[in-house]
Amino acid sequence: MNRHLWLGVTFVFALITGASCLRDVRLEVVPEVVQRGHEVIVRCYYDVEKRPLYSVKWYRGKHEFYRFSPSEFPPTKIFNISGIDIDLMNSNESQVTICNVDFGLSGNFSCEVTVEAPTFSTAFVSKKLTVVSLPQGRPTIVLERDRYDPGDVLNANCSLPASKPPTRISFSLNNKPVGSSMSKPRKLDNGNGGSQTDTGLQSSNLTLTIQPSHYSNGQLTLRCIAEIPGIFSSTSEVQIGTGLREPVPERVTSENGCPAGTMLSLFVVCLSLVHLLLR
Ligand SMILES: *[C@@H]1O[C@H](CO)[C@@H](O)[C@H](O)[C@H]1NC(C)=O
Ligand SMILES: *[C@@H]1O[C@H](CO)[C@@H](O)[C@H](O)[C@H]1NC(C)=O
Ligand SMILES: *[C@@H]1O[C@H](CO)[C@@H](O)[C@H](O)[C@H]1NC(C)=O
Ligand SMILES: *[C@@H]1O[C@H](CO)[C@@H](O)[C@H](O)[C@H]1NC(C)=O
Ligand SMILES: *[C@@H]1O[C@H](CO)[C@@H](O)[C@H](O)[C@H]1NC(C)=O
Repeated sequence: MNRHLWLGVTFVFALITGASCLRDVRLEVVPEVVQRGHEVIVRCYYDVEKRPLYSVKWYRGKHEFYRFSPSEFPPTKIFNISGIDIDLMNSNESQVTICNVDFGLSGNFSCEVTVEAPTFSTAFVSKKLTVVSLPQGRPTIVLERDRYDPGDVLNANCSLPASKPPTRISFSLNNKPVGSSMSKPRKLDNGNGGSQTDTGLQSSNLTLTIQPSHYSNGQLTLRCIAEIPGIFSSTSEVQIGTGLREPVPERVTSENGCPAGTMLSLFVVCLSLVHLLLR
């Protein structure tokens, strides 16, 4: 008895809630990480289950920027939100296309779907958009000197065009990470995220004492790795000359304490004299 009653209640409850429920309301932001100046599509998926659709509203943060309500005329309504440039030809009841996105649009986009009377039930879903500016170029490595021997202090820096978010710059020597604690990325651009094109550089320095253990087959390959995790990665490398330093002459002294240099000078003078005599 009780059990039947319970089942009945559950069934009625399911009928009310289930029927008024909006199924599978989903939001898709394509792409979720977009390059500044490009376009993004905010797509809202919904299944109103044969109930009349009342409205679909698109929001950036708390601001509504596009609405579709089939019972109104015209069915689409655009709200002028600064920074949201809607491509009307490619916007309808299921998606809104935004052109020429700028950093200010980074944040939550939402879609709100409402069905007709009597329930007017509503579903609200959100997705995050990130607007980035990738470095327009590869990392450039500058070495203080061309050649290093064990014991020498290597000074290098690696730079590449500015980006937002900033790029993480790290170094490796023969594939082993080096100098991570020394390298502090420094943003050199104006960084105001304004509409002007990015100028300037971001760079990182490396200071390292070369150890015999750094060598592999007598080789040293310094690599600069520039990355924005999940979005951008680029590397550059240089071969560092080694063991080819000009031989430094030993300081030799003669028996009578005369420096070798003096003997050399005498020798040159002798040669010149011989040369003169032979003319
Ligand atoms: C939208 O607003 C901006 C200023 O915020 C204005 O310059 C522009 O003309 C407006 N566009 C429309 C279609 O009203
Ligand atoms: C909405 O517009 C897009 C792009 O123009 C199109 O692919 C899609 O089929 C349209 N959807 C509807 C329901 O008209
Ligand atoms: C965006 O939404 C998430 C949850 O979906 C929330 O935690 C976050 O605070 C929101 N961000 C902003 C800027 O409103
Ligand atoms: C990079 O290193 C070179 C040589 O050490 C130096 O002349 C230059 O100023 C450095 N650049 C930056 C951005 O630190
Ligand atoms: C890198 O070294 C250069 C000189 O070679 C110096 O001017 C610059 O400030 C250094 N940068 C950092 C981030 O330490």
